[in-house]
Amino acid sequence: MNEVRILDKKFREIISEQAIKKRLDEIALQINRDFTGSEVIFVGILNGAFMFAADLFRRIDLKARITFVKLASYQGTNSSGSVKELIGWNEDMENKIVIVVEDIVDTGATLERIVNELVIRNVAEIKIAAMLFKPEAYMRDIPINYIGFEIPNKFVIGYGLDYNGYGRNLPSVYTLFK
Ligand code: IMP
Ligand code: MG
Repeated sequence: MNEVRILDKKFREIISEQAIKKRLDEIALQINRDFTGSEVIFVGILNGAFMFAADLFRRIDLKARITFVKLASYQGTNSSGSVKELIGWNEDMENKIVIVVEDIVDTGATLERIVNELVIRNVAEIKIAAMLFKPEAYMRDIPINYIGFEIPNKFVIGYGLDYNGYGRNLPSVYTLFK
């Protein structure tokens, strides 16, 4: 059994590098087919999605661009205290087909923020690609169009995902060891 220790915790592998690569090929093929002849803009959500976005994007043979946005925490001046702001939108997306690229969709709160932002920008079409999806945790009704793997509602790391900043460089996905 493949195990790793990150800081004070132990994790065991649940999705191998090989399985991820196979799934990337399948998802990219699907996207290439779905948008043949169209131009698309990929929007990766930092930090976690950087690895999935890069691996997916290199398999895309459409006319395509990629950009990244980030949810930045800062101390707001209003009474609600900490506010998260979406930063990095510098691409004109009006009337464009946009594919949002997420590492993992958990409750869906992050995704909803991004989608609302895209609606304001008058995009033509919004699709969502998530490497990992926790159906038991999902509390929204935005359809996830391309899903790498559905996983149980447990904390995972690797393939871009971190535990307190570490573990993002692991090429496969690991779950907290019991
Ligand atoms: P949501 O807004 O609840 O859907 O959570 C989405 C974000 O939380 C993801 O983009 C991740 O950055 C983070 N996240 C959710 N679940 C995990 C996990 O199991 N491991 C690491 N990060 C996670
Ligand atoms: Mg994320």
